[in-house]
Amino acid sequence: MEKINVPLADRSYSILIGSGILSGLGKELSALSFPQRIAVISNPKVDNLYGRAVLDSLKTSGFSPLMFTIPDGEEFKSQKTLQSIYDFLIENSFDRGCGLITLGGGVVGDIAGFAAATFLRGIPYVQIPTTLLAQVDSSVGGKTAVNHSLGKNLIGAFYQPEMVLIDISLLHTLEPREVSAGLAEVIKYGVICDYDFFCWLEKNVVQLRNRDVKALAHAIKRACQIKSEIVVTDEKEGSVRAFLNYGHTFGHAIENLSGYGEWKHGEAVSVGMVVAAKISLKQGFCTQQDVDRLTQLLKNLELPIAPPDFPLSAYVASMQRDKKVKQGTLTLVLNRGIGEVFLQKTDNISSVFSSVL
Ligand code: NAD
Ligand code: GLY
Repeated sequence: MEKINVPLADRSYSILIGSGILSGLGKELSALSFPQRIAVISNPKVDNLYGRAVLDSLKTSGFSPLMFTIPDGEEFKSQKTLQSIYDFLIENSFDRGCGLITLGGGVVGDIAGFAAATFLRGIPYVQIPTTLLAQVDSSVGGKTAVNHSLGKNLIGAFYQPEMVLIDISLLHTLEPREVSAGLAEVIKYGVICDYDFFCWLEKNVVQLRNRDVKALAHAIKRACQIKSEIVVTDEKEGSVRAFLNYGHTFGHAIENLSGYGEWKHGEAVSVGMVVAAKISLKQGFCTQQDVDRLTQLLKNLELPIAPPDFPLSAYVASMQRDKKVKQGTLTLVLNRGIGEVFLQKTDNISSVFSSVL
């Protein structure tokens, strides 16, 4: 088992990465003196696959867990679902001496993490990410949120977990489309700060698509290292954490305009990265070859590279509602070649995007 520490003073925690480590959950939580009474939040699909293993491990170590499932899908990452989690916690008399576990992909992690952040002004929680996307990105760093009908993740909080437990063996039940979606966020790390990792990804396309455990373990570990280093430097996105939003503003607009759930988050980010790279090319910060390499890698991993057909005005209106817009100014994340990004402010979203769409 690998351990990556996320040193954030009194909010520090460890990311545990390994294959077959879910059964050790109870022991890990005992070592942390995690609360004895625990709400486990999942969805029916993940509960059927892994709920029993989680509950057994907890009970064997003396914990009292209670499972609550929310409906499966991005469209349920809503205030209504959040309310149902609060109802469950209150009806079952959970108090400040209790804890919460998120068991699922980014949807469960984000919404249940936000419930933990806000219930009784905050109870301790642990992330058990079960999709590749959640293992390489959403479970680390403490961003929690629900969507609003007008925009992604518009209601949320920064709230760090007490531990992240990543069991790579859980990925064998994922749909191929979900593996690809997770790989989009993995590629993002290569583009924003690690050229060698980007080259490694280019060379390991077949292994990654086939879910070779060694290749996945390397990709997950490197992704978590990069993300935790960035989060430790800038926990609340005052500076470099914004690099992690590469491809996201346009990606969020795709998700919002298409109707939540139609496009996977990672698929929308894939297209968003191509758009960001094309803007970077237009402004002379990278070459056509860089754009082609990124596009080819995404295609090889069966990710989309072209945006759905919405009018420019709809994309612009959606991006203007993005939470990263401040007083009408949007911060773009652009790439210098591959392996470096920088922030550029623009108050003319329309002209920047019209040049590449
Ligand atoms: P998801 O949570 O919807 O999971 C995708 C599908 O996989 C679901 O149907 C789920 O039930 C299923 N699933 C989960 N684990 C499985 C397993 N082991 N085997 C079989 N099926 C399994 O989607 P996602 O891609 O994991 O997460 C996307 C969400 O993450 C978006 O809402 C996005 O905004 C958010 N996100 C948050 C952050 C952050 O920093 N907090 C970062 C990136 C993305
Ligand atoms: N996924 C972006 C972030 O965690 O900052």
